[in-house]
Amino acid sequence: MSFEIKRIASLDDKDRMEELINFVKIQASDEDNAIALMSNISSFIMAIIKDLNWAGFYLVGEDELILGPFQGLPACTRLSFDKGVCAKAYRDREIVKVDDVSKFSDHIVCDSNSASELVIPIYVEDEVVCLIDLDSPNLNRFTEVEVCGFEKISEILYNRIYL
Ligand code: SME
Repeated sequence: MSFEIKRIASLDDKDRMEELINFVKIQASDEDNAIALMSNISSFIMAIIKDLNWAGFYLVGEDELILGPFQGLPACTRLSFDKGVCAKAYRDREIVKVDDVSKFSDHIVCDSNSASELVIPIYVEDEVVCLIDLDSPNLNRFTEVEVCGFEKISEILYNRIYL
């Protein structure tokens, strides 16, 4: 798999998302080990999508969310099911987009640079087994391009991540 960062630099958000989806498709067709897949996908996201300060996975444990592979500053290793943006996406079983984290009452701060956040659930046999968490230092960073793109990525990974 070759990855040309120079070429990506000239792309807009929509083309970057297509590029990311492409890499995720290739990687997911080639690898089903959860740690390997999540590690490279975190890296692809961070390298391809602009203006992020954190990109990674939280895994659904028995009674809390547990930090998985990620890129960015060290983060909370455990998140309870009843507090924060990731927990909301888990409980509601849907994508949660927060344009301004300071206005989300129980947002959990891992990196004080984060201003907006997008969390996408991934399913295995209809159960949420992990979440992709993205943080940006910009307010309102995540648009329909990212929401639709990451929805597609969650569909590609659906039933592909065996934990
Ligand atoms: N902000 C998240 C916590 C995880 S960090 O952003 C990496 C939340 O409120 O659930």
